[in-house]
Amino acid sequence: MYTKRHLLAITISSLFATMISLSVSAKTTLKLSHNNDKTHPVHISMQNMADEVKKLTHGEVVIRIYPNSQLGNQRESMELIQSGSLDMAKSNASELEAFEPAYGAFNVPYLFKDREHYYRVLQDPAIGGKILDSTKGKGFIGLTYYDAGSRSFYAAKPINTPADLKGLKVRVQPSPTALEMVKLMGASPTPLAFGELYTALQQGVVDAAENNQTALTLMRHGEVSKFFSEDEHTMIPDVLLISEKSWAKLTAKQQEALKQAINNSMISHKALWTKMIAEEVKKAKETLGVEFVKVDKQPFVDAVKPMHDKALADTIIGPFVEKINAKR
Ligand code: GCU
Repeated sequence: MYTKRHLLAITISSLFATMISLSVSAKTTLKLSHNNDKTHPVHISMQNMADEVKKLTHGEVVIRIYPNSQLGNQRESMELIQSGSLDMAKSNASELEAFEPAYGAFNVPYLFKDREHYYRVLQDPAIGGKILDSTKGKGFIGLTYYDAGSRSFYAAKPINTPADLKGLKVRVQPSPTALEMVKLMGASPTPLAFGELYTALQQGVVDAAENNQTALTLMRHGEVSKFFSEDEHTMIPDVLLISEKSWAKLTAKQQEALKQAINNSMISHKALWTKMIAEEVKKAKETLGVEFVKVDKQPFVDAVKPMHDKALADTIIGPFVEKINAKR
């Protein structure tokens, strides 16, 4: 015979069991893939974001980050997102141009006056915000941008003018705008995934590449390319994306928490980027012997002028470029 005490104990323990199973089933783990190293500033900012999401949702939403292309390169990660087998990815506007032409607006060279202009554009709901939303209904949505600095050429020799690029094979991302830019500057563009670039530079498959300074140290490109010529042709943001299927799995409250953590990480990333770029430049100089070359940008600007008229006439990116110009 059960006493009242027994029954109470049974009720309490089954209540606990239900609570435990409820909290277990309420936990959502989101996998996030990207191609940078885990010491890269964007990885660190995303890890800060993941920590904050976990805290804000009391452990209900856990974001697990897979760096270094462990789950595939950027294009493969996008394909996994579209097929619903991956939750989140960090890509960049250059790579995304092939998935959504609106991202091409960021890839036009010498579009931004300075970093403040760039941030005004990224944070403007009618420009940056609209581009992030432009893939709604296509399987994924953009959540935020992370500053990835400006991109310049690097090679085994200094690139002082576009004439120095003549005859060189320059690795570009698989973006039509990047291909056109390098062609107009006089070189032969070779599209390659980021992870294949070290070997390609080392074996002479390509003669040069272009990126921000972190590629020299964190991807070790500075071991083979000793001159980083600061022509700063583009400012192409990294982009954090989520599959629409995974977004829909979250409750409204969890979506809010994610948005808040993402926004905070985007803002704190700005100072982190500045600090870490200074450190990476120092490392590139001192440990790899990379020389940073100041260049006169005007001949580079002149070489790509036709791209501005073409961009303005484009039905998709034209309206964005116009708004970007108005924010100068
Ligand atoms: C940047 C960016 C990467 C991108 C890489 C590239 O480093 O952060 O997302 O893949 O450029 O040139 O491919």
